[in-house]
Amino acid sequence: MTDVFEVRRWDGAGRLGSLDVPRAGVTVETPALMPVVNPHLRTVSPARMEELGAQVLITNGYILYGSEDYREQALEEGLHSLYDFSGAIVTDSGSFQLSVYGDEEVDIDTEEILQFQYDIGSDIGTPVDIPTPPDAARERAEAELATTQERLELASELDLGEMLLNAPIQGSTYTDLRERAGADARATGADVFPVGAVVPLLNDYRYAEAVEVSLAAKRGLGPAAPVHLFGAGHPMMFALAAAAGCDLFDSAAYALYARDDRYLTVRSTEHLADLEYLPCSCPVCTEHGAEGLQALDDIERERRLAEHNLHVSFAEMRRVRQAIRAGDLLELVEARARSHPTVLDGYRALLDHADDLERTDDASKESFFHLSTESAHRPEVLRHHDRLAALPVEGDEVLLSEGGTNDSYDETWRVVPPFGPFPRALSETYPLTAEVPERTDRAAQAAAARGVTALVEANPDVAFTLAHWEWPDEVLATLPEAVTVTALGPDEDVDAETEVE
Ligand code: GUN
Ligand code: ZN
Repeated sequence: MTDVFEVRRWDGAGRLGSLDVPRAGVTVETPALMPVVNPHLRTVSPARMEELGAQVLITNGYILYGSEDYREQALEEGLHSLYDFSGAIVTDSGSFQLSVYGDEEVDIDTEEILQFQYDIGSDIGTPVDIPTPPDAARERAEAELATTQERLELASELDLGEMLLNAPIQGSTYTDLRERAGADARATGADVFPVGAVVPLLNDYRYAEAVEVSLAAKRGLGPAAPVHLFGAGHPMMFALAAAAGCDLFDSAAYALYARDDRYLTVRSTEHLADLEYLPCSCPVCTEHGAEGLQALDDIERERRLAEHNLHVSFAEMRRVRQAIRAGDLLELVEARARSHPTVLDGYRALLDHADDLERTDDASKESFFHLSTESAHRPEVLRHHDRLAALPVEGDEVLLSEGGTNDSYDETWRVVPPFGPFPRALSETYPLTAEVPERTDRAAQAAAARGVTALVEANPDVAFTLAHWEWPDEVLATLPEAVTVTALGPDEDVDAETEVE
């Protein structure tokens, strides 16, 4: 099958892309949010969703298949008419519902359900995968994955016209299985790759593990494959998941939370009854205000809440896109990570793979803001450290300085935490143009020390002197013995004859 996905811009593993959906005759801009619609979720009309920015919806083929009321209508009119939506429509197979609600007796056949999805006009169809839950026994995860893979292979051999094919990636919480599943799914020639069975992780705020399984799947899939994070609908984690390289998200959350009188924000889930002020200026919130929204009758309140929830979700998705565009997606993730410790955990898990992120990062971004101790572990810092060993050092005696310079050295390099040393000629190149707080933190100093170490070890014949601002002893202790270390007092910086630029 030809590639339907094209990446236009990278920011770490995050990307702006376009997904061609030939059967719908549309190109979907990613990262994209796909609201979940089905005959039982009718709070916001698909036409209204389109106005809010939806280019693609997802619905459950299995629910329609089993519905006396809608099955025939779907077959006769097709999904686009049933939902009155002209964008792309994805159909799920229902395997997740079967696994969650434990209806083991119901046996859905991949060929039959895919044919049904095709017959109702689906643009992207899904085979019957087996969503092995997190923490399952390894033998079970392996056996179920083998069945899923057989079904993907079967599905890929069917003639389904222009309908694209989803190939869900399973493997429970075993990252090696997820990686293998990714490689095997990719080999089937399917088009879109949802990371499956993460809903239990997301519901329990296990974002670090959701990041780990997504990155593992992507190691197997390779960077060119479009990835859908199945069931990810809370806007507080969109930036994180996009930074892990997920391109498609689907949300029933907007409706499920509305049903429980819950109001979504990018940093939390609130009970409407607890809100005195609404932190949102969507039409729903400006029209009603907190009291007005609380006073609506049940049906209207649910409808309006669902619409607000979709508003914030689409707004966050646009913010994520713009962040990728501007090259500051990780700054956005850092902001979101400050809202909830579990998102922070997810961000830390992501940075454990900074080398993976670095591989696809755009090296010519515009700004780097050092905002937290985590910033010291960003891919840009790692890249600079890797590069240090190859930078030419001119002279036998070199000063690495956080402040002033001194003529008795052959050359003076600047030192800026978290990057460490660099020649002055590179001061105006990304990421060394970074904005770094003056009150630096220990993680940044430790990262700078790693940079010094990389430079010193690559140049054993050069005598280096490090002039630092009050780095603590435990950081200085990590430096190679060959470096002469001198603490730099504030006066020496201010009064230095030739100040470092
Ligand atoms: N919806 C949420 N998770 C899953 C999954 O793992 N598989 C399928 N088919 N649908 C899902
Ligand atoms: Zn609102």
